[in-house]
Amino acid sequence: MRVLLTGAAGFIGARVDAALRDAGHDVLAVDAMLPTAHGAGAEPPPDCRMLDIRDAAALAPLLKGVDVVCHQAAVVGAGVNAADAPSYASHNDYATAVLLAEMFGAGCQRLVLASSMVVYGQGRFDCPEHGPVDPLPRTRADLDAGVFEHRCPVCGVPAQWRLVGEDAPLRPRSLYAASKTAQEHFALAWTQAAAGAVTALRYHNVYGPYMPRDTPYSGVAAIFRSELESGDVPRVFEDGGQMRDFVHVDDVAAANVAAVDADRSGFEAFNVCSGRPISIMEVATELCDARGEAPPVVTGQYRSGDVRHIVADPARAMDVLGFRAAVDPRDGLREFAFAPLRG
Ligand code: UD1
Repeated sequence: MRVLLTGAAGFIGARVDAALRDAGHDVLAVDAMLPTAHGAGAEPPPDCRMLDIRDAAALAPLLKGVDVVCHQAAVVGAGVNAADAPSYASHNDYATAVLLAEMFGAGCQRLVLASSMVVYGQGRFDCPEHGPVDPLPRTRADLDAGVFEHRCPVCGVPAQWRLVGEDAPLRPRSLYAASKTAQEHFALAWTQAAAGAVTALRYHNVYGPYMPRDTPYSGVAAIFRSELESGDVPRVFEDGGQMRDFVHVDDVAAANVAAVDADRSGFEAFNVCSGRPISIMEVATELCDARGEAPPVVTGQYRSGDVRHIVADPARAMDVLGFRAAVDPRDGLREFAFAPLRG
């Protein structure tokens, strides 16, 4: 198939590009080469064109003959402060709106969309007594006292985390999350307005070679990895028991190939995860052990707004797309301990 790939020069996009070409697809790779991601004045890599998809006139001719758009371009991270809102809205939402309109104009009816687990806001929880519950936000008093688990809203005992399925409610809690949720909503509405098909891939915590170094927008794997490289000890917040799903970038690329190859209709969302939950303490410990460094430090600090646990259910991506992650995070993180970073 002829695939227009956006964000093709990014950490994830570059691996998706390679995987699509390996699978025999004809890839038209584009990237806006945003200075925040690539540095000022960076040129696109070979076989990648410079294109900001908000530029409808430049985008339109490239869509001729394209069967599927694989849309990885985005401004990521949790956001530094409220001043980031226009950037998220412009690059993640307005750009997607332009893309969808131009796809409609060109008769291109299939979109694979890079979404994120941030759309869920928080994980799923059960109370041992009251079953599935929507836990209360963690209080400052609890956090200051080192009580990090969410409590049951009925009886107040600590709630137990459960796997999050794709039918969980969408509750964005950050500017970035709001922009990714709106992006999914634009795409969903487009499936009806344009009789198109959208496969939204909700990435969990992605890591792997050429991940950007520590920036205010980086996730914890890049932060720990950068700390180790500069001779510091990783600093684990809370008690280190926060549960996540770390998925290798090559598995994310494989999920995109599976989504491009699948002939689906309407709007569908899938978790893209390893299916092997891991605590933040284990992530730090694997990285330190692999490098033969001193163990991580548990600081007991917390960040307001941090999610305690969010762990995905991999079943739907397996059942519908036939995607199963190949890399166990315990192996992948040990390799990541020495992998090159970008930036
Ligand atoms: C992260 C991203 C989010 C992305 C998602 C999926 C950020 C800030 N968050 O969410 O945008 O969509 O992954 O890929 O980019 N922690 C430490 N020490 C540190 C830093 C963090 O212990 O130095 C802990 C945090 O308290 C948290 C956990 O690590 O409990 C994960 O933090 P982080 O990677 O920033 O955020 P996620 O919520 O997983």
